[in-house]
Amino acid sequence: MTTQSLESQSEIIYFDNSATSFPKPNEVVEVISKSLREFSANPGRAGHKLSMRAGSEIFKTRLNLASFFGVSNPMAVVFDLNATALLNLAIKGFAYKGLHVITTSLEHNSTIRPLMRLKNDGIINLSITSGDEDGIVGLKEIESLKNSNTKLLVINHTSNVTGSTQPIREICKWCRENGIVTIVDASQSAGFEKIDLKEDFIDILCFTGHKGLYSPMGVGGMVLADEFDLTLLKPLKEGGTGSLSEEIVQPDFLPDIFESGTPPLPMIAGLNEGLEFVKRNYESITKKKIELESYFIKRAKKIEGVELFYGNVRNGVISFRVKGVSVSKITEILSEDYGIMSRQGLHCAPLAHKKLGTFPEGLVRFSFGYSNEIWQIDKAIEAIEDIERIESE
Ligand SMILES: Cc1ncc(COP(=O)(O)O)c(C=O)c1O
Repeated sequence: MTTQSLESQSEIIYFDNSATSFPKPNEVVEVISKSLREFSANPGRAGHKLSMRAGSEIFKTRLNLASFFGVSNPMAVVFDLNATALLNLAIKGFAYKGLHVITTSLEHNSTIRPLMRLKNDGIINLSITSGDEDGIVGLKEIESLKNSNTKLLVINHTSNVTGSTQPIREICKWCRENGIVTIVDASQSAGFEKIDLKEDFIDILCFTGHKGLYSPMGVGGMVLADEFDLTLLKPLKEGGTGSLSEEIVQPDFLPDIFESGTPPLPMIAGLNEGLEFVKRNYESITKKKIELESYFIKRAKKIEGVELFYGNVRNGVISFRVKGVSVSKITEILSEDYGIMSRQGLHCAPLAHKKLGTFPEGLVRFSFGYSNEIWQIDKAIEAIEDIERIESE
């Protein structure tokens, strides 16, 4: 694997890949620069060669993502800024007065806040399941919350706090059989967990490009199942699409119905290269993250005063705290004294922390990536041992 080599990188240990993956693969950086140099015209807005070339790059990315996520229609891949934009579209675009929605305690604010807005505005009724000790939801729980108005389930596939991963195939299959539409937030799992909308019975999948798919920030996607009834989803924004310009109403076909305004062509080209990188290196990336997390757990468990929080699968995401030391102090020392980048606090997932009993202070999170090495874990363990020792003296 080739990575972007930066001078400063030798001094930095980056354990914040759940926030955004870093460094990006060279191929991603190169295609962005190439697109800006060679074909960054406005796609779909003109008949000239460069505009067509830009349009074909976007289509190529749709095609690649459709095949990766198991849908046959590339136009059912919709782009926007990030997962947050697309989750808002999916949730608010589907909602109607009297709808009952089920969601989970592992949700990120990107789903829980739009849901709470709809609830507080008196539009929907909301049930939040807390699941087992890892936050994993069982069918029995969902079944017990279902009523005749339950037509939507919003579920985070993989927690950005503990890495806990929901059995979405089983849950979404049951929802499909019971007339409940599913919105799956795959922000943390896309590029790591195998996701196939057909086999997993998912109706709407939302993902962000800049985490496990290694694109730059600025692009995310929503993928609709082949059998999804498009009339169920209203666009949240309307405007120029480059299609049907003679019409003063929004086109009603995919993807234009949901994609108004000039798209971020360089980012979308980067997303395509990021996806190619994942496809080429899938086994090794997965193996690496599992190895790093398992090794960290093995060593960290031996440090007195350290409490670890991790879920039902190994995917390189783990949170912890050190007795007697605030989480902000820990991340500050890790960053300033050891060059280790980590993330403290509530990770935009307050309900997950309430469930773990770590609200309101939160935890320190390490999230490992393909470029991390075992020696970096050793250094982190040394750092945590020092923090624990100094602070308990
Ligand atoms: C589980 C989950 N959902 C949604 C998001 C939002 O992603 P973005 O900030 O790219 O919109 C994140 C980002 O951390 C996340 O971890």
